[in-house]
Amino acid sequence: SELKIFCPATIANISCGFDVLGVALDSVGDEMIIRKVAEKGIRITKLTGQDLPTETHLNVAGVAGLALLGESDYDGGFEIEIHKKIKAGSGIGSSAASSTGAVWAMNELLGTPFPPLELVKFAMEGERLASGVAHADNVAPALFGGFTLVRSYEPLDIVPIASPPQLWATVIHPQIEIRTSDSRKILKTNITLADGIKQWGNLGGLIAGLLMEDYDLIGRSLTDHIVEPIRSILIPGFDKVKSDAISAGALGCGISGSGPSIFAFSKGEDTAKKVAAAMKGIYQKIGIEYDVHVSKVN
Ligand code: HSE
Repeated sequence: SELKIFCPATIANISCGFDVLGVALDSVGDEMIIRKVAEKGIRITKLTGQDLPTETHLNVAGVAGLALLGESDYDGGFEIEIHKKIKAGSGIGSSAASSTGAVWAMNELLGTPFPPLELVKFAMEGERLASGVAHADNVAPALFGGFTLVRSYEPLDIVPIASPPQLWATVIHPQIEIRTSDSRKILKTNITLADGIKQWGNLGGLIAGLLMEDYDLIGRSLTDHIVEPIRSILIPGFDKVKSDAISAGALGCGISGSGPSIFAFSKGEDTAKKVAAAMKGIYQKIGIEYDVHVSKVN
């Protein structure tokens, strides 16, 4: 038996929620086919769209799948086909899509022995391979859909957050690759109390804005005083893209995950499309290739 699935791209951090907040994109993602087979272990039998390792131990879906198999009494195996549409190193959860898709489908094919939180833990092993840190802010929304908050890592506690019906995302990917492991190394490990106060005010504001369907509050809260000032230096044209997105009507704009993709939230699809046109202006001007996606976020 086999399953063919869509594995959504995700925006992690969402400005004020470094390592704790993420959201799934409705219309951007990979395809995977997962097949239950008698032969033990996990094999990546096909990988198209990106140049990524297919050895089980070096592939995020392989590693996440092995984590699941290690906790399972199933004594057969799985074959995995991965058809990447999400570019590796683009900042929209490429590794999370693959690792989450693998463990979700394997669990379904086994008759759902594992609850969702366990699947997040298995998928986090894929993230550990990809970035050196088992963060959950991409895998949780890839699994649950919509917005998720990682309220705690120890113990793992994930809270799905409802969001308003007219919230759209525009994501632009300037064609440079930033490895998450590199863009984590440049971060400071300490923050000041003053920055903490600003950041948790915004994080609370963003969650409240999502739940209250208050688009202005969402917009006011999409601010990051801690990570964006450091990481944005790695992204060509970041300040210009951001100010053009806001001028075109976006509620807010920031780095998607560890970059280089930049996301903006808008109220309504029309505004999100106008924002897309504005965000690509600088890249057209300076001659940097880019991809741009407009997607609903719930
Ligand atoms: N929270 C992670 C980071 C997400 O910003 O490093 C990586 O996609």
